[in-house]
Amino acid sequence: MEIIIQPTPEAGSIVAAQIIAKLVRRKPDCVLGLATGSTPLGTYRELIRMHREDGLDFANVTTFNLDEYVGLPLEHPQSYRAFMAENFFRQVNANARRTHIPDGLARDVPAECARYEAAIVAAGGIDLQLLGIGTDGHIGFNEPSSSLASRTRIKTLTERTRADNARFFHGDLAQVPFHCITMGVGTIMASREVLMLAFGANKADAVAAAVEGPITAMNPASVLQMHPVAKCVVDGAAAAKLARRDYYHWVFAHKPDWQKISA
Ligand code: PGA
Repeated sequence: MEIIIQPTPEAGSIVAAQIIAKLVRRKPDCVLGLATGSTPLGTYRELIRMHREDGLDFANVTTFNLDEYVGLPLEHPQSYRAFMAENFFRQVNANARRTHIPDGLARDVPAECARYEAAIVAAGGIDLQLLGIGTDGHIGFNEPSSSLASRTRIKTLTERTRADNARFFHGDLAQVPFHCITMGVGTIMASREVLMLAFGANKADAVAAAVEGPITAMNPASVLQMHPVAKCVVDGAAAAKLARRDYYHWVFAHKPDWQKISA
C-alpha cells in the first residue's frame, strides 16, 4: 500500500481529488466507485471546484456508490442517494443515468445485490474505488468478520457504527437503520485501483491495524494489503500510530517526477 501523509484533512482531500481528476482527464468515461460519510466531503468539494474553475468534466463518468441504508425513503436527507445528490452529483455535470447506488428499498434484496454486481461488470468494472475507513476498520459497510471474498449483500450494522453515524441523525440512535446493502470486500478488491482516506485521531488505531497489522477479517481494510494498486491518504492525526511514518514521508518526498501527483 502507498501511504500518503498530509498535514491536514484539507491537504489530504486535495491530493485525493488530484488523483481522481488525473484519472478523469486520462479516461473521461472512467468508472468511479464513490463513498459517503464525512471523510470524502473535502475531496468532493475540491472536485466540484475543479469542475467549476478548470472544466473537469464528469458527463461521461459512471459512478457506483459503496452502500446504502435499507429502508430509508429516497428523499430522506440521510439516504446515501440524497447525500450524493447534495454533496456531489448536483454540483458537477454528473449524468444521472450513470450514477448508481444500491436500492435500499428493493423488495427483493438478494436480487438487488446481484443486479448491482452485474451492473458493475456491465460498466467494465471500477477503475478507482474511493473509500473511508470505519473506527472498527470497516470499508463500505463491511463490518469486522465480513468475508474477505464477499460480494454486494445485506449487512447488519454494528452498534459502534450505528453510534458513529447517529451524528447524521441529530444524535438520535433510534433513527439509524440496522441494515444496509454494501459492496462486498471482494467487490472492492476487484476494482483496478483503491484510494482510502482517513482523517482524525479517532481513525489512528484502525489505520495502523489496516496498514501495518496482519490481514484479518477483524479489520476488513487490512485486506487492501493484497490489492495491487492501493493508496491510503491520511492526515497527521490518523497517521499517528503508524510505526513507519517516517518511511512513508520519505517515499512521498522522493517520488520520481513521472509518479508525482498533480491534476
Ligand atoms: P466517516 O465514515 O467518513 O463518516 O468517518 C467512514 C466509514 O464509516 O467508512
